[in-house]
Amino acid sequence: MTIRKVLRMGDERLWQRSAPVSHFGTPELHELLADMRDTMQAMNGAGLAAPQIGVGLRVVIFGVQHNSRYPDAESVPETVLINPLIIPVGNEIEEDWEGCLSVPGLRGMVPRHAHIRYQGQDEYGALIDRTVSGFHARVVQHECDHLDGILYPMRIRDMAKFGYNEELFPGQEIHDE
Ligand code: NI
Repeated sequence: MTIRKVLRMGDERLWQRSAPVSHFGTPELHELLADMRDTMQAMNGAGLAAPQIGVGLRVVIFGVQHNSRYPDAESVPETVLINPLIIPVGNEIEEDWEGCLSVPGLRGMVPRHAHIRYQGQDEYGALIDRTVSGFHARVVQHECDHLDGILYPMRIRDMAKFGYNEELFPGQEIHDE
């Protein structure tokens, strides 16, 4: 288990479309997930996608316990999601602030589907099928975007709502996610 270097915006590997996983329960997949968990915990993140550590596979992890970092956010279960599919439920779009471990020190206001159904597999190939809203839906959309080479700044509509944490939220302690 290793804390891996998180690639930052500008590294061309973050712009690439990742490949599906076809073998589940393998030592290689378990090792990748162990590294992703260690890295996400070390950086206090809410989620991490495999391409952020330079692995071009359709694997994301996410999870948030209710804590002081996200005082307004509902908790999101610790999840391994492989080969995900996102289906919007309804047409409602919500805007809210996002950060990213690959874009450290910054925040942006990003539109996302308010309600989604997502499907995929866990590390053993078992099916996952959930319908979620709000912060949970936002985290899933953000992480799955990484698998298609999309970073959240590409979705910002108003560039006045993109900037450094200290300027946007003076006096607040804000962490990257
Ligand atoms: Ni991110």
